[in-house]
Amino acid sequence: MAANIIDWTDSWQDKLDIKSKYASADAISARFSKEVAEGKLPFCSMPYMAELLYDLEGLEDYVKGFDHMLLLGIGGSALGARALQKAFFSEQDEPCHKGPWFWIGDNVCAKTLESYLEKLPLEKTLVAVVSKSGGTIETISQYFLIRKKMQKKLGEKWNRNFLFVTDKKSGFLREQADELSIRTLDVPDNLGGRYSVLSAVGLLPAMFMGIDYRSLVEGASAVLSPLASSTLDAETLLNHPSYKIACWNAALMEKGYNELIFFSYIPQWACFGQWFAQLWAESLGKEGKGSQPIPAVGATDQHSVNQMFLDGPRNKGCLFLTCDSLPHGEKFLEDIPDKFSYIKGKSFGDLIHAEGLGTKMALSANDVPLVEFKMAEASEESAGRLMGVLMAATIFTGWMMGINPIDQPAVELGKRLAKARLGADGLQEEKNDLEAFLSTKREEQIF
Ligand code: PA5
Repeated sequence: MAANIIDWTDSWQDKLDIKSKYASADAISARFSKEVAEGKLPFCSMPYMAELLYDLEGLEDYVKGFDHMLLLGIGGSALGARALQKAFFSEQDEPCHKGPWFWIGDNVCAKTLESYLEKLPLEKTLVAVVSKSGGTIETISQYFLIRKKMQKKLGEKWNRNFLFVTDKKSGFLREQADELSIRTLDVPDNLGGRYSVLSAVGLLPAMFMGIDYRSLVEGASAVLSPLASSTLDAETLLNHPSYKIACWNAALMEKGYNELIFFSYIPQWACFGQWFAQLWAESLGKEGKGSQPIPAVGATDQHSVNQMFLDGPRNKGCLFLTCDSLPHGEKFLEDIPDKFSYIKGKSFGDLIHAEGLGTKMALSANDVPLVEFKMAEASEESAGRLMGVLMAATIFTGWMMGINPIDQPAVELGKRLAKARLGADGLQEEKNDLEAFLSTKREEQIF
């Protein structure tokens, strides 16, 4: 099989101070090895994988006995599954699809939930409730409403239609599972949502959709195993794509490049952009530092945000994703007006390749430093490699910035205020803040 390639030619190796970042390779390799040994980086070492693959195999007949899977989860508990669905189960979006069907409830939207409750054949639906903490309100509130409906419809055996993916020991979902005899799969310790796509969080939905999840795992472990090895040293790190991406980003941020485009010219991989955006933003947006991820997809976004990429502020780097072996589709025949004669005899695939090349060259010509990921195939194995590299690159970038890429403390404030607004116990400070905020005279205008 042809190899995936990272092309650094247009990345500004000579204009950025990347070399000074290489100096941290000794310290970072030592820290990485230590944290792997302490079980703090399971996304990389995957110590849980053999057991998970065994469990998934055991569950396959049961899971595939359902026509629908409804995943309730949010953030890292949903975005990986959606990326995999759009990339490898696109048939669901095709006319005349006859099932199975995979749905994701990752918002607080009464209309969407109502349509799931009204239109899904509940007896043929497996509800996968995915939450590492087991207490995320957006997820749990959907669970309450669906559980009520399931109980009404299915009677005593309602719990057969639920499967929880949650922490091994703690959290509300774990308590519910124990009390109500609901099947579970574990989210391993220290595996936060945005690093969890290669756990049951992403692999259970992948298995339901018939995605080759084993190849996904193989791709990721092929790329991550040198990092997980106890022999990791500075030299290995310096040659590893994830570390090079991190050095490049650290150098970019230092120069004021505080936006990072993820431009996919593999149209069906567009949602990897959303997955990456959460990984990058929640991990690195800290202490006034970081770079804002911007997911984009070619050719669609050439007619949308690309003008800003090309001629807006020169503060953007770009990860550019291509694949030469995408299906070429139909050729354009002679029955085409002269005005469009340049596509006669060419295929639809030629069009997307030419547009990708044009956009890449235009970005470079307009001072956007760019790293191209040339995927040999748009396969599960390649996707696993890409996700593995990006997760490790995120950790390394965070460490170079001197922040913790695993937590997300800033997002807690909004959650506490919402809870206070709903009248949760305690939270006196937040309640006082709310009162002050709500009693401030607003400057408002009718439009
Ligand atoms: O990446 C993260 O850690 C978060 O985005 C979580 O995935 C998100 O907040 C949902 O959390 P949980 O899985 O605990 O419900």
